[in-house]
Amino acid sequence: MTDTTTAHDLVPAPLSVEGPHRRGFVLDRRTTLDAAPGTETAERWLRTTLGAAFALPLPAAAGENAPHSIRLRIDDTLAPEAYRLHVLVDQAVEITGGGPAGVFWGAQTLRQLLGPEAFRTAPVNREVTPGLPVLGIEDAPRFGWRGLMLDVARHFMPKGDVLRQLDLMAAHKLNVLHLHLTDDQGWRVAIRRHPRLTEVGAWRARTKWGHRASPLWDETPHGGFYTQDDIREIVAYAAERHITVVPEIDVPGHSQAAIAAYPELGNTDVVDTAALTVWDTWGVNPNVLAPTEATLRFYEGVFEEVLELFPSTFVHIGGDECPKDQWKASPTARARIEELGLADEDELQSWFVRHFDRWLADRGRRLIGWDEILEGGSRAEGRAGVETDEEEGGRHDRPCDEEGRHRVRAPGGETTTLGLAPGAAVSSWRGYGGGVTAAEAGHDVVMCPEQYVYLDHRQAPGEDEPMPIGYVRTLEDVYRFEPLPPGLSPEAAAHVLGAQANVWTEVMENRSRVDYQVFPRLAAFAEVAWSALPAPEQRDFAGFEHRMTAHYRRLDALGVGYRPPAGPLPWQRRPGVVGRPLEGAPPNV
Ligand code: ACM
Repeated sequence: MTDTTTAHDLVPAPLSVEGPHRRGFVLDRRTTLDAAPGTETAERWLRTTLGAAFALPLPAAAGENAPHSIRLRIDDTLAPEAYRLHVLVDQAVEITGGGPAGVFWGAQTLRQLLGPEAFRTAPVNREVTPGLPVLGIEDAPRFGWRGLMLDVARHFMPKGDVLRQLDLMAAHKLNVLHLHLTDDQGWRVAIRRHPRLTEVGAWRARTKWGHRASPLWDETPHGGFYTQDDIREIVAYAAERHITVVPEIDVPGHSQAAIAAYPELGNTDVVDTAALTVWDTWGVNPNVLAPTEATLRFYEGVFEEVLELFPSTFVHIGGDECPKDQWKASPTARARIEELGLADEDELQSWFVRHFDRWLADRGRRLIGWDEILEGGSRAEGRAGVETDEEEGGRHDRPCDEEGRHRVRAPGGETTTLGLAPGAAVSSWRGYGGGVTAAEAGHDVVMCPEQYVYLDHRQAPGEDEPMPIGYVRTLEDVYRFEPLPPGLSPEAAAHVLGAQANVWTEVMENRSRVDYQVFPRLAAFAEVAWSALPAPEQRDFAGFEHRMTAHYRRLDALGVGYRPPAGPLPWQRRPGVVGRPLEGAPPNV
């Protein structure tokens, strides 16, 4: 019998730990689960996860507060995601959450306390009986949105790998999976009424190998998509882990795969869209959607099916990197600008975004988009919509339904000074600026600045990093990322829902490459999003690194192909494949 870990090895760090004292709990064949109503997700998860790791049945307890039990309780005086974990002297563990999610996060902490073997799927040493000292943990997240964006469009990630990512997220107390489902290089979700989106749009004949400047190609056809039942399974698996899946359908740029499937979606008066195929290389693509009524109707059909599949309040519409050259050249687009009384193509883009903003609001959902959705905004809406004083009533005073869904004041077309529905939110990726502007105008914001939390960026200088792109962003850099920029007013700061790490997969062709880019940095990111860390320069990175020694053993047990602290293993390198390393400090930090 061994104490396999100390409470101080937890990642992300909890608010407070009292103890450890003498031994208080042993997990063995006598252990039962004593689960109060509302704690079923944690109960199921503990039985399947710890039960498998230690080959234990973990049956339901015969009565309340029996010895040898893991007691799961709800105390709604705590915040919904907060929890207390107490190892008691009578061979019991008590996890009390403010709601089902809090209990679940407490169960995640219990697994960490039980040592790396708790992260395996079958026992490797039946002689070891995991034991825990008497201790008490109080914990609660700093932010309500602790996100990971996975780009499954550039390289498809098979369903099983997505489910595994959800497990890895849960292990780090992350709670939003933003799925980037569509892009120039692939369309990954089946849409019943538009079958060619996946018949044609879900695969490409070959793929640029490395950065777009690389002369190399992988001639293997690449593709894949999720059926609607696959999506339902992913969403349900996530919900069991208190993770919300936010779908992204990127419009009006990043749309070549859709145009390859349905050429009429493109600017047919400027390019021969019938000749387009799903894009096989990387970069910002000029082939964008035509701003026609037919395009709007097509995508309303797409979003109708997306809303059926994804219960999340937020629906991401992309909105990033939409070059305007085709619209400038297109008589159809120019006529559209004229007809709508818009000034230019920037306003046309915001008209497009605002159409779906209202469309989603009318259906009780909230749009979220990349920070480009702020461009050309207020003027376009000022003419076409109704401006109201957003401060009236205050956003936080609006009622929530049982699912915490904010009812946006729609229909009626009310907008903020930025021309967006009050419930619209922004993913601030080009730095903090877009997020600050949006938050100051009363919009909710998710901070995901590329300067800190784009995990496709290389983790170290030097030749050894595989297909190195972007700036060097080390584990320590991510650990010192601060979601709230200095100088933000308390009112604006209250609109920062949280933070998100983004995983763009142009140079990540499979799960091992994703593991390498994401870990260990996601552990640092999780601590930033969950824990009550001090200001960046005061953070104890050495202490975090020390806890990471225990955490690497957990990741090893989970089979995560992280970047070792000493650098990539030989098979993690990609010698000779051109990347695009950038030097110096990134702009706009
Ligand atoms: C983005 O990185 N284009 C959102």
